[in-house]
Amino acid sequence: MQTLRVLAVLFLVGLGIVAYALWGRSGREASTASAAPARSIPIELLTQMQPVKDIELEYHQPDLPPGPGHELFATQCVICHSPRYVLNQPIFPRKTWATEVHKMAKAYGAPITPDQEPLLVDYLVSWHGKEDAPAAPTQNTK
Ligand code: HEC
Repeated sequence: MQTLRVLAVLFLVGLGIVAYALWGRSGREASTASAAPARSIPIELLTQMQPVKDIELEYHQPDLPPGPGHELFATQCVICHSPRYVLNQPIFPRKTWATEVHKMAKAYGAPITPDQEPLLVDYLVSWHGKEDAPAAPTQNTK
């Protein structure tokens, strides 16, 4: 009785495996059949089916204040990232802006000459920076 039951279970499991294998094979065959070379649709037909549309994307630019250095900033500092990216930085002290501008030229290859750096730093400090804090008074150790 016990043996019969074990055999019945084994038979059912075997049947399941065979059924699964056959089902899987037919699935694969179906997928290879549908992978027949696709016929190309002529472009005229495509544009008829899906007419070309123009969309206009809004372009938001932060208002960069005029002043000395504006032209240089608006051309050389927006090549790799937006002016907004620069504007999103904290209000840096002059020292930090000088380091930033120098880093853009040295590390990232911003096309600015060393004599243009102070002009850019002045411009950045004027609208998004502050002067350096005065050096802490040295302690009198007399
Ligand atoms: C040649 C490409 C390039 C140019 C031109 C450029 N930058 Fe950058 N800038 C970068 C890259 C790259 C980063 C780093 C972005 C990141 O970390 O995801 C960066 C980051 C910054 C940051 C964020 C702080 C930091 O150090 O990561 C500031 C501020 C900045 N740039 C200012 C400027 C200014 C001012 C100029 C004009 C002098 C300038 N950038 C021109 C490539 C450039």
